[in-house]
Amino acid sequence: MNTESFTLEDLQRRAEQCRNCDLAAARTHLVFGTGSPTAKIVLVGEGPGEQEDRQGLPFVGPAGKLLDIMLEIIHLDRSRVYICNIVKCRPPHSRDPLPEECQACSPWLEGQLQCLQPKIIVCLGRIAATRLISQDFRITRQHGQWFDRNGCRCMAIYHPSALLRDVSKRPETFVDLKELAAEIRRQRIFPEEGA
Ligand code: URA
Repeated sequence: MNTESFTLEDLQRRAEQCRNCDLAAARTHLVFGTGSPTAKIVLVGEGPGEQEDRQGLPFVGPAGKLLDIMLEIIHLDRSRVYICNIVKCRPPHSRDPLPEECQACSPWLEGQLQCLQPKIIVCLGRIAATRLISQDFRITRQHGQWFDRNGCRCMAIYHPSALLRDVSKRPETFVDLKELAAEIRRQRIFPEEGA
């Protein structure tokens, strides 16, 4: 990404033309991201599923419904964060995106992060964590821990789809969400709300 300034809208317009990998050919919609263009908290998932591909919006299927509940637990909603994915086009049958697909798509995510300059990034699941925190990230052992990414605090939690499949992971995620809320207060991300 060059150093000229650009907006999320500029970036989205360019992304809509993207043919950087084979996922482009099968997409109904590119799923760029949604939320506040001034958000200081960015949530990053893996890639669009069937519903997201159909609607062009991230996390609108069953995992998205659970994500909304998770946000509500810590008094957040989609208007106060920005939500996007590692890959912007749906992988076939919603399989995990391949490393080369993540790589081909990375200029869009890097551009989004450059525009937003978040103070907190939350990786939703292993795929996002291995791309944004470290290649050998272990979600079972390292979820809920803080890492530094170019001066930004970065944490991974279990992906909402994993929490739909395995409810036994939910109590740990509740603890992680409370830690996220504590960091939001420590950084005074919403100063109008006081301490
Ligand atoms: N899962 C993801 O990782 N991203 C979405 O947008 C939807 C489901």
